[in-house]
Amino acid sequence: MTVVVLPGDGIGPDVMREALRALEKVAPDLELEEHSFGAQAIRDTGDSLPEETLAACKSAQAVLKGPIGDPEFDAAEVRPEQGMLRLRAELDVYANLRPSSQGTIDILIVRELVGGIYFGARGVREDGTVYDTMEYRPDQVERIARRAFGLARNRGKKVVSVDKANVLDTSRMWRRVVTEVAADYDDVELNHMLVDNAAMQLVLATDQFDVLVTENMFGDILSDLAASLTGGIGLAPSASLSDSGPGLFEPVHGSAPDIAGRGVANPMAMMLSTALMLEHGLGRAEAAERLRVAVWKAYGSDGELRTTEFGDAVLRVLS
Ligand code: NAD
Ligand code: IPM
Ligand code: MN
Repeated sequence: MTVVVLPGDGIGPDVMREALRALEKVAPDLELEEHSFGAQAIRDTGDSLPEETLAACKSAQAVLKGPIGDPEFDAAEVRPEQGMLRLRAELDVYANLRPSSQGTIDILIVRELVGGIYFGARGVREDGTVYDTMEYRPDQVERIARRAFGLARNRGKKVVSVDKANVLDTSRMWRRVVTEVAADYDDVELNHMLVDNAAMQLVLATDQFDVLVTENMFGDILSDLAASLTGGIGLAPSASLSDSGPGLFEPVHGSAPDIAGRGVANPMAMMLSTALMLEHGLGRAEAAERLRVAVWKAYGSDGELRTTEFGDAVLRVLS
């Protein structure tokens, strides 16, 4: 089984190093293939997603990705984030699972990842108006809704669909399609919630939520919020799945330029993303559970461990 490894930018290579040390313990037979991606790839090749990297990702069993992004390119024509969106689209990993749990909180955000305003028509009009457009086809909504209901069935059996149906036509279609899909899952309770209220409810009454399903940008924002309620962004993993091809596994957080190079980044989100890869991407539930247990044990032993110290603590539990 081949896993493509994309270490990424900023704190990416640091947190990836720790994740790989642990991965080698729980799944030593995996073939890991590192490829260039993100800011470094732009410097080396002019493209954040070089052709050979994309080809390797497509033929791998799974892609393990560190965060990308570099302030050097924030205003540039070619930016790391573009390659990342292209990779998600090329792999058609439309179902982005972002779990957050702590104490009585156990939330799963199911974020649509390859549509919406990130991928709609964009441009500049003659008068200087710049526009990005939120676009969805009904079948894109249907497939993400089916994922969410399917996942909810094996959890708390509750789905909250988050939209802005009081303003947006895309949201009204979203709500209609999700309601239609719900008819096939009568063991799962469905509620609709407007996104502004959802943000408030997440803060004030977190326990009410099980699965949230939402469009691309709302999911982006709400998943950082959910992470902050359950230990912080340094702990939040994600899995992005298609219907058949390789999945993409990456932390919710970014390249953290403010702390890059200081050896203080928390590698937990990268490690828990690795566990999600073992479970959802490679069908190795046992190895995933071993890794997850070790990571939480290390976290419980000392919440202040720096990058490598944390990795060492995980390895101690695993050996
Ligand atoms: P960020 O997630 O990188 O950082 C937000 C805050 O959280 C910062 O204070 C940072 O130091 C802290 N933080 C993040 N991860 C941490 C960790 N593992 N341990 C300790 N602290 C951590 O978000 P940002 O600053 O808005 O974005 C920085 C860059 O990352 C941008 O270029 C952005 O586009 C990119 N980004 C990439 C991804 C990705 O590759 N999936 C995700 C989000 C942001
Ligand atoms: C994330 C990130 C990305 C997103 C950016 C870097 C394009 O914030 O993975 O959450 O918005 O999807
Ligand atoms: Mn984000």
